[in-house]
Amino acid sequence: MRLPTVLVQILLLPMLLWISAVIKGADAGGVGVNYGTRGTTLPAPADVARFLVRETVVDRVRLLDADPAVLRALAGTGLAVDVTVPNGVVPRLVSLAFARRWVRENVVPHARAATNISRVLVGDEVTTEANRTLLLALVPAMQNLHTALAAESLHGRVKVSTTHSLGVLTSTERPSAARFRDGYDAAIVKPLLRFLRATAAPFMVNAYPFYGLTNENDTLDFALFRVNSGVVDEGSGLVYSNMLDAQLDAVHSAIRRLGFGDVDIAVSETGWPSAGEDWEVGVGKDLAREYNRNAIRHLGSGVGTPLMPNRTFEVSIFSLFDENLKPGPVSQRNFGLFRGDMTPVYDAGIFTDPEVVEPVSTKVTPAPGQEATPAATGRQWCVPKPAADEMMLQENIDFACGQEGIDCAAIRPGGVCHEPDTVQAHAAYAMNLFFQSNGHHAFNCDFGQTGVVTTADPSYGDCIFM
Ligand SMILES: *[C@@H]1O[C@H](CO)[C@@H](O)[C@H](O)[C@H]1NC(C)=O
Ligand SMILES: *[C@@H]1O[C@H](CO)[C@@H](O)[C@H](O)[C@H]1NC(C)=O
Ligand SMILES: *[C@@H]1O[C@H](CO)[C@@H](O)[C@H](O)[C@H]1NC(C)=O
Ligand SMILES: *[C@@H]1O[C@H](CO)[C@@H](O)[C@H](O)[C@H]1NC(C)=O
Repeated sequence: MRLPTVLVQILLLPMLLWISAVIKGADAGGVGVNYGTRGTTLPAPADVARFLVRETVVDRVRLLDADPAVLRALAGTGLAVDVTVPNGVVPRLVSLAFARRWVRENVVPHARAATNISRVLVGDEVTTEANRTLLLALVPAMQNLHTALAAESLHGRVKVSTTHSLGVLTSTERPSAARFRDGYDAAIVKPLLRFLRATAAPFMVNAYPFYGLTNENDTLDFALFRVNSGVVDEGSGLVYSNMLDAQLDAVHSAIRRLGFGDVDIAVSETGWPSAGEDWEVGVGKDLAREYNRNAIRHLGSGVGTPLMPNRTFEVSIFSLFDENLKPGPVSQRNFGLFRGDMTPVYDAGIFTDPEVVEPVSTKVTPAPGQEATPAATGRQWCVPKPAADEMMLQENIDFACGQEGIDCAAIRPGGVCHEPDTVQAHAAYAMNLFFQSNGHHAFNCDFGQTGVVTTADPSYGDCIFM
């Protein structure tokens, strides 16, 4: 499937130069991480949340479950969070009553507080587990979860999808020839795509060029986005300069073949191990750094792929931490960007640019005689929107006052802010405390879209708003 090398290089060289020019000019966009917790020495979720927000460009976190402690720790961070229904629970979701209970217990309390849950993922790689019960339950489970989210008015913010391995395709050798596995295409994948289109949710794929490596050096160059002789897809005539593009275009071709070419594709996992067994090809820190840096830049650059040009892709790196409890070969435990003590295994280029880091707290000491006025300091407070629902405001109070380090004594009976004894007034005090204690970012005042930032000081009498 290869043109003579010289010819391909002629075709490819201008393209590679163009790609690297675009990459250099691109902004450091956001990136997602898969936050797995199968390790013995991982940091506390609150420390992880703080670290991601302050020190990295990570803007999305995928959880492989819906652990309430982790979801609470992610509250107020603005990070988009994908939660996962474990495969074992998926068959039970064919009951709408169970789906409603699952949403009420695992999504509602967090989404109504300040955790930015953006998706519920129904199982992981269900379409490549040879389990009929699971497979047949998948789409009904997704539909029921969507219905359950709609009943809570959350379907606009929280989408439902599922992740797939490339094993769901018959062939990824020639991207343009890729198809879904026989028997799955019409029975499972078509209804799935119909659901994704109707709800504007993406088809999510776990794509690993690492597993496409062979013993030949040129597959390593092809996988790592290095200059290489390229691969021509004889079906489309398009030239591929890297393996990830070929994998994504294979998925796109298979989807388009079923008539759903407009359904968006997101990369729910990609990554590279920093260590492995002696027999594992291509493992190592330098190669892992090279792959992850290049994959993040390439997918965020706007170059797109040969079949999907001029677009960016959402991507989540697998994974945030090395996880020493995972089974399988050594590489399985070494996909992490960070060790358990939060030191980087290598620099994947996801740290916040030191020059644009916002100081965590700006302490301005006014010169004598120049007492800072609220207007001059541009101070901001967080208060409820006037039309906000009282039940949601009560949840905001419970949530904010339940956080460690937040003292709501002032709104309790006898406190200086107890009067007026209304939910609206108490919510203003509690929501503002949460906003002020978390670095006063606008997203700390979202509260399920019930909060708003104001420059008018809401303090009254002896009740002083921080
Ligand atoms: C929540 O995540 C979405 C991405 O799904 C993002 O567009 C939005 O800005 C985030 N919301 C907040 C309040 O940070
Ligand atoms: C299929 O998956 C379900 C749910 O995870 C599980 O209970 C069942 O044992 C599995 N069946 C087989 C044959 O593995
Ligand atoms: C791969 O590259 C290394 C270092 O450049 C070289 O020593 C080795 O012979 C090459 N292997 C193959 C199969 O070409
Ligand atoms: C992609 O962008 C390039 C450069 O701006 C432009 O020439 C080309 O027409 C675009 N292709 C598509 C399919 O939009």
